[in-house]
Amino acid sequence: MLRPLFYLCVLVTLQGAARAEICTLTGPTVIDFQGHLNNVTDRCAYSLLADSGNDLKVVANFRERRRRDVSFVDSMTLTVGSSADEIVLEQGGRVLVNDAVMSINSTSQNFFGVDVVKDETGVTAEFTTTEYTINVFFDGTTAQISMEVPVNSTLAGLCIDASNVSSEKRTENSPLSCEEQFQDPADNSIDCAALTARCNELRDPLLSDCNADIDPTPYINACSETLCKYSAADGLRCQFMRAYARACSLNGHNVPNAWRIKTRCPNRAFCQDKFCTDHEFCGRKFSGDNGCLCRAVFAHPYKEADTLGDPTVCEANSASLTLFNCLLEERGIDYTVLHLNNQSCRGELDEAANTVTFSFNTENLCGAEITFDENRINYTNTIMNQNFTDVIIRHDQVFIEFSCFNPQPQLKTVAFTINDNSYMITLQAGEWTYNVSMIPYIDEKCTKVVATDTEVKLNQKVWVELKTEGLDADTIAVVTDSCWATSVPDPDSTPRHDLIKNG
Ligand SMILES: *[C@@H]1O[C@H](CO)[C@@H](O)[C@H](O)[C@H]1NC(C)=O
Ligand SMILES: *[C@@H]1O[C@H](CO)[C@@H](O)[C@H](O)[C@H]1NC(C)=O
Ligand SMILES: *[C@@H]1O[C@H](CO)[C@@H](O)[C@H](O)[C@H]1NC(C)=O
Ligand SMILES: *[C@@H]1O[C@H](CO)[C@@H](O)[C@H](O)[C@H]1NC(C)=O
Ligand SMILES: *[C@@H]1O[C@H](CO)[C@@H](O)[C@H](O)[C@H]1NC(C)=O
Ligand SMILES: *[C@@H]1O[C@H](CO)[C@@H](O)[C@H](O)[C@H]1NC(C)=O
Ligand SMILES: *[C@@H]1O[C@H](CO)[C@@H](O)[C@H](O)[C@H]1NC(C)=O
Ligand SMILES: *[C@@H]1O[C@H](CO)[C@@H](O)[C@H](O)[C@H]1NC(C)=O
Repeated sequence: MLRPLFYLCVLVTLQGAARAEICTLTGPTVIDFQGHLNNVTDRCAYSLLADSGNDLKVVANFRERRRRDVSFVDSMTLTVGSSADEIVLEQGGRVLVNDAVMSINSTSQNFFGVDVVKDETGVTAEFTTTEYTINVFFDGTTAQISMEVPVNSTLAGLCIDASNVSSEKRTENSPLSCEEQFQDPADNSIDCAALTARCNELRDPLLSDCNADIDPTPYINACSETLCKYSAADGLRCQFMRAYARACSLNGHNVPNAWRIKTRCPNRAFCQDKFCTDHEFCGRKFSGDNGCLCRAVFAHPYKEADTLGDPTVCEANSASLTLFNCLLEERGIDYTVLHLNNQSCRGELDEAANTVTFSFNTENLCGAEITFDENRINYTNTIMNQNFTDVIIRHDQVFIEFSCFNPQPQLKTVAFTINDNSYMITLQAGEWTYNVSMIPYIDEKCTKVVATDTEVKLNQKVWVELKTEGLDADTIAVVTDSCWATSVPDPDSTPRHDLIKNG
């Protein structure tokens, strides 16, 4: 007996969440909502999204890192509301709300209608209006904006259309001279083919599901163009991997753990909770640890001049030299091993500026060597990292000599008229200044000054006091080398009556 067979057909429509449009910035590259790739070549601020109707602005601020000619999205500024309140997302996961640092964790906090939350992948800020929800993610190197773009929206910015980058430049929000272009020599150690092959791991069969939905081509091109110029330093390759994987996740595609293991890119933000000063960024140091490195534009003049800091400051008998810790670290120098001639004199770290200052003064010389000739008295000290008793010169030797000097006084050109009560000059031939004064008295105790109207009789005794102010008595002795009298106010006139010759 045959039973009839029924074929039941069901047409199913999945009413899933609406598709999110995704805009991705990694390093210098921008992939807009339509998947167009472009890049930023200067260090200015760029508008990613602006909606005047909702008083909302999302701006990306670009800065350089290891190379002067490659910019990175370095921070994100969200401006909301009619009073233009500002939320800034920075490298390390730092969040500033109207310039105040906020501590953000996995519990969402609301500032002016923006929900801010932080996890191990980075910081997310979400903003909802009646028309849409904008989700801004930043992990220090990659920014990703996802939203459903409403039909006929009045939104503008690089995320809407990245085809003309310069039209979205916001010079009023940018640092001065952000448009200046530099050209650094190409890095010949970069294996472009190998890096491109790794970028192509975005087309791995493990991601085929997502590949069918989100074209990986702009991500792969952004990855290879950037790595071939900049190198894969500071985990940059993984930034591109994670950016695409995150776009996949946002649109509901599973990113297999096997793919993360294969690409060796864990889903963790690089340099999370590591904060650097304005002239630095967080990267991988010489030692392999993550830490603050100098930005290339900042470091360039110091490297050209082969110095590690600003010139010696000589002030009020004290000499100090300030070195930038990031310049020291680039050379693998640990500031804690450095000292002056006297090994107990060490550098002082200023944590806010990340600078190290070495100083000595005439009261605490720190082993400074004092030398003098007819022109000056030099005080010279040396910043070093080891005793120079070793005969073998090691390559990681540090030897930075710095000095201040006192100019020798030049009293021989000075006329001294008995009618004047004193003579004072400030010598500023060098860097430390001091005063020399010469005051005549008519009494041995030097209490009665010879003033202009004081009568000095012939054969009357006159005492002359020679005094310096601002010199260190322990290290410098003032010696009268010669002294003579003339009848007119000119030291070179004749007749000349020598009172003291050759001391
Ligand atoms: C997160 O931060 C908030 C506000 O600073 C604090 O009240 C809360 O206890 C923190 N939560 C955790 C899990 O640290
Ligand atoms: C979008 O704008 C076009 C032209 O301005 C108009 O014809 C259309 O109806 C608008 N669509 C919506 C959904 O508002
Ligand atoms: C890009 O934008 C700038 C500034 O708005 C404009 O001067 C320039 O003509 C634009 N370029 C193109 C190709 O549209
Ligand atoms: C930036 O774009 C230019 C052309 O628009 C291209 O030649 C260059 O390789 C790109 N640079 C990077 C780092 O993507
Ligand atoms: C080195 O400096 C320390 C501290 O300033 C001082 O106590 C010591 O006497 C100095 N040593 C020499 C050899 O000058
Ligand atoms: C003092 O230092 C200057 C500059 O380093 C040098 O030219 C001069 O010869 C030094 N003078 C003495 C007496 O050491
Ligand atoms: C330098 O020499 C002194 C005495 O010779 C010694 O105490 C000190 O440990 C040495 N320091 C270094 C860095 O070699
Ligand atoms: C030198 O004299 C001027 C004027 O009297 C005074 O202001 C200055 O402090 C003196 N400098 C030193 C180093 O004593």
